[in-house]
Amino acid sequence: MEKTFLMVKPDGVQRSLIGDITARFEQKGFKLAGAKLMAIPESLAEEHYGEHKEKPFFGELVDFITSGPVFAMVWEGEGVIATARQMMGATKPSEAAPGTIRGDFGVTVGKNVIHGSDSPESAEREIGLFFNKEEIVDYQKDN
Ligand code: CMP
Repeated sequence: MEKTFLMVKPDGVQRSLIGDITARFEQKGFKLAGAKLMAIPESLAEEHYGEHKEKPFFGELVDFITSGPVFAMVWEGEGVIATARQMMGATKPSEAAPGTIRGDFGVTVGKNVIHGSDSPESAEREIGLFFNKEEIVDYQKDN
């Protein structure tokens, strides 16, 4: 079954949004396969955001994502990668539709509350970066 990597960013953790955000994916009917609160080491932040290395905001991005704990998750379900992106809303909270996570909770493009994989390739890569195999739980869930 398809899996994606989602992460409540440091601003979302600080603002006590872990519960609201995970509730949306639970209520949608997706299955939580892994989750942990963690501090991201700088090396992991640089690897995770490697595709943005040349961007002018790269330093700011790494500083922010390592500024406090994040809540890293693996969610599973049919079409979960694309649907989670829809539920997150546009990267810029000012352009994110009401009802989406960033539309409802986001403030700035940097502090945009949540990260989610944008393709099957990045989902596989990001899950592998953040989770050991033993941390991904396989179980039956009847909605
Ligand atoms: P995310 O989905 O985590 O992937 C890359 C992140 O870069 C993106 O969310 C934004 O939070 C961040 N980002 C994009 N543009 C800018 C910018 N101009 N300044 C700071 N951060 C940015």
